[in-house]
Amino acid sequence: MAKLWGGRFEGGTHADVEAFTSSLAIDSRLAQADLKGCLAHARMLGRQGILSDAECQQIVKGLEAIASGLEAGNLGIPPDAEDVHTAIELLLTEQAGVVAGKLHTARSRNDQVATACRLYLRGEVDALREEIRALQARYLEIAEGNLHTVLPGLTHLQHAQPVSLAHHLMAYFWMLERDHARLTDLRVRVNQLPLGSGALAGTTLPIEREGVAKELGFEGLCENSLDAVSDRDFVVEFLSAAALIGTHLSRFAEELILWSMPEFGFIELADDVTTGSSLMPQKKNPDVAELIRGRTGRLTGALTGALVMLKALPLSYNRDLQEDKQHLFEGLDTVRGAVRLTLLMLQKATFRPDRMERACQGDYSNTTDLADYLVRKGVPFRQTHEIAGKAVRLAIQKKVALEALSLDELRGLHPGFDTDVFDSIQTRAVMEARNSRGGTGSRAVAEQIDRARKTLRGEGLK
Ligand code: ARG
Repeated sequence: MAKLWGGRFEGGTHADVEAFTSSLAIDSRLAQADLKGCLAHARMLGRQGILSDAECQQIVKGLEAIASGLEAGNLGIPPDAEDVHTAIELLLTEQAGVVAGKLHTARSRNDQVATACRLYLRGEVDALREEIRALQARYLEIAEGNLHTVLPGLTHLQHAQPVSLAHHLMAYFWMLERDHARLTDLRVRVNQLPLGSGALAGTTLPIEREGVAKELGFEGLCENSLDAVSDRDFVVEFLSAAALIGTHLSRFAEELILWSMPEFGFIELADDVTTGSSLMPQKKNPDVAELIRGRTGRLTGALTGALVMLKALPLSYNRDLQEDKQHLFEGLDTVRGAVRLTLLMLQKATFRPDRMERACQGDYSNTTDLADYLVRKGVPFRQTHEIAGKAVRLAIQKKVALEALSLDELRGLHPGFDTDVFDSIQTRAVMEARNSRGGTGSRAVAEQIDRARKTLRGEGLK
């Protein structure tokens, strides 16, 4: 295996050790990020006179050739390198000759790997933020078309009060809004430059870190070299945000699975996002939603893995930290997949408002409104709750809907009931009547959507 540290050793490394310690299979995806770090470092060494202009130019040209070669696919990562950093130095040696050996001046793989990781993650965080925005926009779009679509609102998975489909979907919009805000917030802490910290203690050479940070778009410098090479908080923070995104989407996935069950029939997922059965020809299964639900376990696992990796780890760099990438990439790929596939499912899903409305009929989810009716007539809620409870008991005994009780039957329970009570307990009226801020009435939801649009435009919450 190609190494950067042969001098001190007499014999070779055991093949099992090489295989055990290599990270190339996992970290080769950092190649472009690492090259960017290498380029900024080389230019800084040139500016500081640590490299001559000619040396600097040779190295820069070599690195640029490697970057475009890898991009175009006419250059490969040497498969026997210990890690991606070693691989790039090997490629540079092939491109530029012995001068390649000067690139690693005033640098260690410890500050190098942290730099590449942060750069890579920053790009992924930005891509994920955009994907979240696209999903939010889709929830918003469906919500706008369904302000008046009635859906059974549940608590304990029991019919509670009718809500609009718009209101239900907007709940996910706001979850994603918090997710997006978390990513924006943690991005600042990802975007700090560790390079220039050396192996752990800084360097004797006259480096200059601010320019490197500027070239690479970092917002600040890691202030302590020991912390810089040991810190993986940015990995934990990201994985924590990712686990929560996955958790949110798993809740929605679960609802999609339930809603597409024939007993519900609230939604039909498109053919291109469902799968069939090898045995039962009639089947159309919501496997994508199930995998979003199932893979949320990986996100929790990745977060837990990263936290356990760091627990009680003494300063400064320890090889344990190499494991961060396994967890990070697992989390990244899983969460981005979940966001993208949720959007894909929502792009062509067919909602069935008729089925949703039918599910609300005669389900007694209007009983609170019977109580509220008497509240408006001045009866204390404690009393109206009892009266409405008796009314629902009577209806259940008679096997009819609440609204099918006669005015006389209602008056038997309280003289305050009048003919207009029936209008106020119609399913749609029940839903429409809840226009308190944040409520499910279409006026309140329209205002909610308006605030959501402003939030997306960056106008903030008012
Ligand atoms: N592949 C290593 C990692 O990902 C690079 C750093 C190795 N440093 C060391 N001192 N062995 O962490």
